[in-house]
Amino acid sequence: MDAAPIPPATLVIFGATGDLTRRLLIPAIINLTRSGLVGDDLKILGVGIEPGDDASLVARLDSFLATLSEPIRPETDDAWRRLRQRVSYISGDFTQDAIFLEIKKHLTSCNAAFYFAVPPQFFGPLVEKLHAHGLTTEADGCFRRIAIEKPFGTDLASARALNAHILSNISENQVYRLDHFLGKETVQNILTARFANMMIESLWNNNYIDHVQISAAEIVDVGTRGKFYDATGALRDMIPNHLFQLLAMIAMEAPNGFGAEAIRTEKSKALSALRIYTPEEAVSHAVRGAYKAGTLDGRDITAFRETKDVSPDSNTETYVALKLYVDTWRWAGVPFYLRTGKALKARDTEVVITFKQVPFAQFRKTDVNRLLPANKMVIQVQPDEGLSVEISIKSPGLSVDTVPVSLDFRYADEFDIGKMTGYESLLYDLFIGDQTLFQRADGIEAGWAAVQPFLDMWAKSSETPEAYAPGSSGPSCADELIRRDGREWHQLGEAPHNQGPKLLKKYPPN
Ligand code: BG6
Repeated sequence: MDAAPIPPATLVIFGATGDLTRRLLIPAIINLTRSGLVGDDLKILGVGIEPGDDASLVARLDSFLATLSEPIRPETDDAWRRLRQRVSYISGDFTQDAIFLEIKKHLTSCNAAFYFAVPPQFFGPLVEKLHAHGLTTEADGCFRRIAIEKPFGTDLASARALNAHILSNISENQVYRLDHFLGKETVQNILTARFANMMIESLWNNNYIDHVQISAAEIVDVGTRGKFYDATGALRDMIPNHLFQLLAMIAMEAPNGFGAEAIRTEKSKALSALRIYTPEEAVSHAVRGAYKAGTLDGRDITAFRETKDVSPDSNTETYVALKLYVDTWRWAGVPFYLRTGKALKARDTEVVITFKQVPFAQFRKTDVNRLLPANKMVIQVQPDEGLSVEISIKSPGLSVDTVPVSLDFRYADEFDIGKMTGYESLLYDLFIGDQTLFQRADGIEAGWAAVQPFLDMWAKSSETPEAYAPGSSGPSCADELIRRDGREWHQLGEAPHNQGPKLLKKYPPN
C-alpha cells in the first residue's frame, strides 16, 4: 500500500540553527518532498537563540546543503527550491514568554509538531511554556505533538522526573521520543524478519539460541564533543537507548497487532524483564575502557583523556561491554552480550544470534571428528545493511567433511533505496501520528532501571577504565567478560561485504 501524503502542518524546530536541523531534519524533509509525501502545505518555523530572520536561516541552510557529498541547490533541486520558500525564523530566548506569543502568531496551520533539537535542560521548560500558552491544546481535530531527541534523562531518577514533567502538561499520545536507530531500515526489519518468517521465529527461544550479541562499534573518536561525552560516557550515550531498542526488538513477544500500542507494550515488557543486578552482580557483568593515543586509518588519535574539554583525570568510558539477561520464559538462561565503543577497528552495528550446537557430531567415521560450528544469524544494521545466516554444508570431495558458508542477503543487492538520512520515516510518522517507532515512557524508564546498577557502581569507583588502542576491538577485559563463559565476540568488521573477493577452492584438487 502506498504511503499517504502528510496532512497540512507546521513543523516548529527549536534549535533551528543547530547541526541536527541542517544535517538531518531538512535533508529528510527534502527527501519526503521528492517522494511526494510532503506537499506545499508543510511550513517550517525555525526558532533559535541566534539573531537572524527568515532570509538568514534559509541562507545558512543553502550554504550547508551545497556542501553535502550530493549537494542540494535551489537552482537545481525542485524540492528544496519549493520548501525553502516556506521556511521562516524567529529568534529569541526559550525561557521567556515573548517567543511563544510570536510562535502563536506564526501558526497558521491548525496542526503543529514541535521538534526539540536543543540541549536536554530545555525539554521540560519548553513543554511547560508551550502548554501554558495553549500551543499544545488539540482542538477541532487538530494535532499538537512534540518530538524529543535523546538524551532522555541521565539516569533512572532524571528520566522519571522528565516523563512526569512532560506528562503533567500533555498526554502520552502527543509525545514522540526519538531514537534515531529506529529510523534505520534494518532495525525496523528485525520485526518483519521475526514475525513474517516461521523458520526464524520458531527457533527464537532458549531451546535453540545459545546467546545473543549486540554491538555498535564506531571508528570515530570523541572529536569535538569532549564536553558532552565526558559527562555522558559510552554507557549512557548508547546502551539504554540505541542498543536497548535493538534488544527489545530481538527479545519481545509477538504483539497482538502491528499497531503502535501493541508493539510498544511488548517492547516495554521485554525491557522491564531485563535483570536488575545487585551491586555485586553489576561488578561481574560489566567492563569498560577508554581509548589511548594512537593512529587509526592513518589518522592520529588523541587519547580520550587529552581531548579538548575532557578532564585529564576523567573516569569516563569510551567503551562498555555488558552481560545481561532477559528474565522471561522464552529467554531464561540466554545471555545477551552488549558492547559499544569509539575509535575501534571498524564501523559495525550488528546483532549476532548464535544458535546451540548440534547435540553430537553425526559424522564420526569421517574427517569430521570435531565439534561443528554453531549456526549464526547476523543482522547487519550498518554499514551495508543485510541479514546472513551461517550454516555448515558438506565440502565437495569424496570424504564427508563440513565447511561453514553464509546465506547472505544485502539490501543494496536487491533494492535501490537511495541516500536516506534515517529521519524520513520518523518525521513522516510524527506527522501522520504513528508512534510505533517512538519510545513510550515506561520503555525508557525500564531501560534506565537496567543500567542504573552500572551507573551507581562506576560513580563510586576510583578505578579508571582500561586503556585500549585506537583501531583495536576494544579493551582486553571485554574479551575476558565473554571468554570466561566459553564464548567469543563476533569479529568486528567481518560482515561478508568486508571480506573482499572470494578465493574459490578448486575441486577436484590438482
Ligand atoms: C548518537 C550518539 O546518539 O549515536 C553518538 O550520541 C553516536 O555518540 C551516534 O556516534 C551513533 O549513531 P549512528 O547512526 O552513526 O550509528
